[in-house]
Amino acid sequence: MTPERLEISRPDDWHLHLRDGDALTSVVAHTARRFARAIVMPNLKPPVTTVAQAEDYRRRILAALPADTSFQPLMTLYLTEDTLVEEIARAKESDSVFAVKYYPAGATTNSQSGVRELSRVYPVLEAMERHDVPLLLHGEVTDPDIDIFDRERVFIERHLMPLRERFSGLRLVLEHITTADAVEFVSQAPANLAATITAHHLLLNRNAIFEGGINPHHYCLPILKRERHRIALVKAATSGSGHFFLGTDSAPHVRSAKEASCGCAGIYTAHAAIELYAEAFEQAGRLDRLEAFASFHGPDFYRLPRNEDRITLERKAWTVPDDYPLAGSTCKPLRAGESVAWSLLETAAS
Ligand code: NCD
Ligand code: ZN
Repeated sequence: MTPERLEISRPDDWHLHLRDGDALTSVVAHTARRFARAIVMPNLKPPVTTVAQAEDYRRRILAALPADTSFQPLMTLYLTEDTLVEEIARAKESDSVFAVKYYPAGATTNSQSGVRELSRVYPVLEAMERHDVPLLLHGEVTDPDIDIFDRERVFIERHLMPLRERFSGLRLVLEHITTADAVEFVSQAPANLAATITAHHLLLNRNAIFEGGINPHHYCLPILKRERHRIALVKAATSGSGHFFLGTDSAPHVRSAKEASCGCAGIYTAHAAIELYAEAFEQAGRLDRLEAFASFHGPDFYRLPRNEDRITLERKAWTVPDDYPLAGSTCKPLRAGESVAWSLLETAAS
């Protein structure tokens, strides 16, 4: 029987896009209401490549937060072929930076400054291994000859396997995994390789992109995959394995950037993030495993304390608005105009 209420330790979001400026102000409260902490992606324009820039960005996030929250942004650096080894030592020393993000150049939104040739960043990866700074991977090849649905699998074969051989002590997170191949690889790895899983990849398969006509609001990267991959992701997330934890990849874009002749990749889920995960776990009959996935495995991997306060979810449907404000324009969220089965009960400020 499904419980009507579910109380869990306050979760964290281990992969989030908060943007900057007015867009940041528009979206950050959604995340802060649900999560205690979030790993904040550095793919701004220009990217956040140094500890000093990450600290400035962190201050802007804190300034944009509502008054009644103790939400903590955990900052990341954007790895480029010009990243200095010394920057890794600075990251290790800092209280604000928790990881470095690898984007293959051209793989996704604002990834132009990413890495073209992995061997060029080997000295930086050595420093990360030595200082024990985790590397977060956008795990897709960009080779135009590789089918878009195979880009994650080929990344694992071509890049992740050699990376593991060469830097076996480096802590790695394969971000927003989307395939059975990734699930299998990560499940069998030692504890220093983990993966985040988004709510939308747990709830949707690639049919959602084409249901009743092409739907740009279901376009994200890595792209939604076949049903058998979605099933593998649900199995991994609900398995209880510490290799897998919550990362929404909530990625807001204004409507005009999505509904365009060449629309941007990214799905906005911060408005209902933990509620959507609760739906996916309920569908799998494993609500009892939501807390470990959402609140325990992430901090354990990052070697941070688990959160002490708690949130309560209620099995009560609500209708998602058609739009949320975004930087003077609007953003169409996941489930716009449709219902979400779980609600977050208002709690006293933590
Ligand atoms: C992200 C974005 O918009 O910044 N888009 C996405 O589809 N997930 C970038 C990313 O994480 O790939
Ligand atoms: Zn992302």
